[in-house]
Amino acid sequence: MLRPRMKNVAFDLAPELADDAAPVFVRCEDLRLEQVFINLIGNALDAVASCDRPRIVVELEPRADTIEIVVRDNGPGIPADALPRLFEPFFTTKEMGQGLGLGLAISSAIARDYGGSLAARNREAPIVADGPEGGTQHDADQSHGAEFVLTLRRA
Ligand SMILES: Nc1ncnc2c1ncn2[C@@H]1O[C@H](COP(=O)(O)OP(=O)(O)O)[C@@H](O)[C@H]1O
Ligand SMILES: [Mg+2]
Repeated sequence: MLRPRMKNVAFDLAPELADDAAPVFVRCEDLRLEQVFINLIGNALDAVASCDRPRIVVELEPRADTIEIVVRDNGPGIPADALPRLFEPFFTTKEMGQGLGLGLAISSAIARDYGGSLAARNREAPIVADGPEGGTQHDADQSHGAEFVLTLRRA
């Protein structure tokens, strides 16, 4: 669904989520989990639309009883005054017709329905990527960006 919008975006998917990786099981209905991913990655795509070097990273952080799925981007980040309202239904900063403001409200409700949670924060550390010579590269334009953490119980 999102692939056509990803053409010029560097997309780093956690190796644990690759098609040929061993499955990771969490408590959530698959179609609803898909909805959450579409919302979070769709938002990240909107956020990086004006970036020189757009990048979206999806990481998996296993915890004792939960799995954290982190979706981060190198867009402009979340304005401080928007942060407390992100999960309110119909809260949107997008142009009329661009967003209904329901994606995060629905996504957090889905997480909650399965005993999980969804949290948002701005990233502080820049994304560090392997450079062409194997070294690390810091991009000035990657020092900001939003990060969404979906926490789900292990199945
Ligand atoms: N990755 C992101 N970077 C910056 N702001 C974001 C990001 N994801 C969501 N937001 C903010 O949260 C608001 C609500 O998101 P959402 O509920 O998905 O509604 P919509 O995408 O329709 O605006 C967005 O309008 C935007 O202001
Ligand atoms: Mg959205």
